Amino acid sequence: MSEHPEGGARAFQPEGQHQQPAYEPPETVTDPAVQGLIADPHEEASRRIIEGEHSHGPRQTDVDPRAAKRAERQVAALFAVSALATVGFVLAYVLIDLDSITSLAWSNRLLGATLALSLFCIGAGAIHWAKKLMGDDEYVQARHELRSTAEEREDFVDSFRRGTDDSGFTRRSLIRRSLIGAMALLPINAVILLWDLAEEKPGGPGGLRETLWGPGVPIVAAVTGEHVRPEDLSIGALVNAEPENLEEIPEGPPRLNALADSAIILVRMEPAEIVSQQGPDWDYQGILAFSKICTHVGCPISLYEQETHHLLCPCHQSTYDLADSARVVFGPAARSLPQLAITVDEGGYLVARQDFAALVGPSTWEPP
Ligand code: FES
Repeated sequence: MSEHPEGGARAFQPEGQHQQPAYEPPETVTDPAVQGLIADPHEEASRRIIEGEHSHGPRQTDVDPRAAKRAERQVAALFAVSALATVGFVLAYVLIDLDSITSLAWSNRLLGATLALSLFCIGAGAIHWAKKLMGDDEYVQARHELRSTAEEREDFVDSFRRGTDDSGFTRRSLIRRSLIGAMALLPINAVILLWDLAEEKPGGPGGLRETLWGPGVPIVAAVTGEHVRPEDLSIGALVNAEPENLEEIPEGPPRLNALADSAIILVRMEPAEIVSQQGPDWDYQGILAFSKICTHVGCPISLYEQETHHLLCPCHQSTYDLADSARVVFGPAARSLPQLAITVDEGGYLVARQDFAALVGPSTWEPP
């Protein structure tokens, strides 16, 4: 803002609006179209409607009640479509079974399309409302000192009330109700998207705290699915493994989710080399089982250095010492890999003694 040497101020002119002539002191301005743009912030009439060549002509909706009614219905229709799209979003989430990659892809497409439609129609309805039905007068307001005076505050309240009247928010009940309805349904989208963070995971073993492991659950080798005997592991060996009951989970995303929680590695070392464990005697004759999922951001790990007993995550180089409770010795991970307590069953095969005692996976959320 440029201060006038006599205390006046040049009125604010939004970019892209009408090009104004160079500033002249108020007393020398003669063009009535420009006079409305020059204002003194200390004067009561600091906000003026642009008149003359800068004024807007009446729109069809200003002079034709039927056009105004038609525009009102169009706005309400857009808000109604938004509400229907939100309902479609909920139905797509609830009704589509994620039992295959194809259905997962369709679920994502429908969720994205309905969410986009509900947001677009809210925005389009608001713009259409503003362009066709809200007051069309253009105002300028003189810049002023940052601290608002009491008069300016009163002026703001007055302006707000006038804006409310201009928009017809209180008068046009059809628009008001349809907008309120659409806005009331909109948060459902966020609730649905956050639903998967809840305790129960559909189709999987239950909740963020639970995996497929439990007392007596057999350990089988990944890919082959064969039970594992202690003698199958030599000193220094690493075997990728999973719970036998993974086969009971339906194929597709539910099984992949369950595997992401339950995948483990088995390593064997001399019992005397074990410095510490996460529970008393959770190994079996030097065989230790740990979650395969890095606690940084969840990469699967199996780069094992048998001399040092270090396990290296290839994603960001977090390194865990498996001989010492899988504590982090290097890298960005903040937690040890959870250890699975194991033993053997009557047939001499390795089984779990219980579920993991610690949370599996990346530390991106805090347990309640
Ligand atoms: Fe393993 Fe980042 S995911 S270090």
